[in-house]
Amino acid sequence: MKTMRILMSVLALTYCGLLTAQTLTVEERNERIRERWNRSLVDNENYRFNKQPNKLLTTTVEGIKPGKALVVAMGQGRNALELARRGWEVTGFDLADKAVAYALEEADKEGLELNTQIESFETFDYGTEKWDLITWLYGGCLGVEDIAGTLKRALKPGGLFVFEFFHREAGIGMGRPNFGCEAGAVKELFMNEGGFEVLFYEEKEGMADYGMDTQKLIYMVLSKK
Ligand SMILES: C[S@@+](CC[C@H](N)C(=O)[O-])C[C@H]1O[C@@H](n2cnc3c(N)ncnc32)[C@H](O)[C@@H]1O
Repeated sequence: MKTMRILMSVLALTYCGLLTAQTLTVEERNERIRERWNRSLVDNENYRFNKQPNKLLTTTVEGIKPGKALVVAMGQGRNALELARRGWEVTGFDLADKAVAYALEEADKEGLELNTQIESFETFDYGTEKWDLITWLYGGCLGVEDIAGTLKRALKPGGLFVFEFFHREAGIGMGRPNFGCEAGAVKELFMNEGGFEVLFYEEKEGMADYGMDTQKLIYMVLSKK
């Protein structure tokens, strides 16, 4: 599977900063993602993103008893670290190894523990009824086969799923017509799967954590029934 040549969707390529659809091996695609995000999140001091934890996440976990959290595509750890500070037992994964190393160094400085893996959305073992919380923040539009089913299986009953990303209208406004999630599409994935309650869902303008300007965003918090 890993060596199979795959045709990546224009959506995924655009999200990863690769402009044209082309045939890449999984390893080539992963290497491009790794290189692109190591550069943006660690090497490039001028890259504009919110180094503070995501607000939807902090609002959601406020007052909740900490448990086991999975931080998908953890980047340089801003959200994973905040959850650990709040007493959560945190596992995070990402392809960007330097970004993950940065998170681990920060955790060390603060005396916090993070479990991390260098993995992709597609290969990470999400497990069964393992997590009280899963975050998918600025990690794209969930374009992974059967991801709603995988996440449903992975969450404990009552477990939370927190998602935020750009709306398709934001992509169009940026001159990237394939970037961002189409209206309603992400929620529909989970509604079609069934077994989730929508605790919060909005498509509205807000401060984007990446780019740090006002954009139309999709905010979603689900609970597994
Ligand atoms: C915009 S950053 C968001 C990082 C973090 N979630 C945050 O909110 O700060 C996107 C992250 O997704 C990761 N990523 C992109 N495609 C991935 C994939 N297929 N598997 C795992 N991580 C991926 C990148 O390496 C990058 O760290």
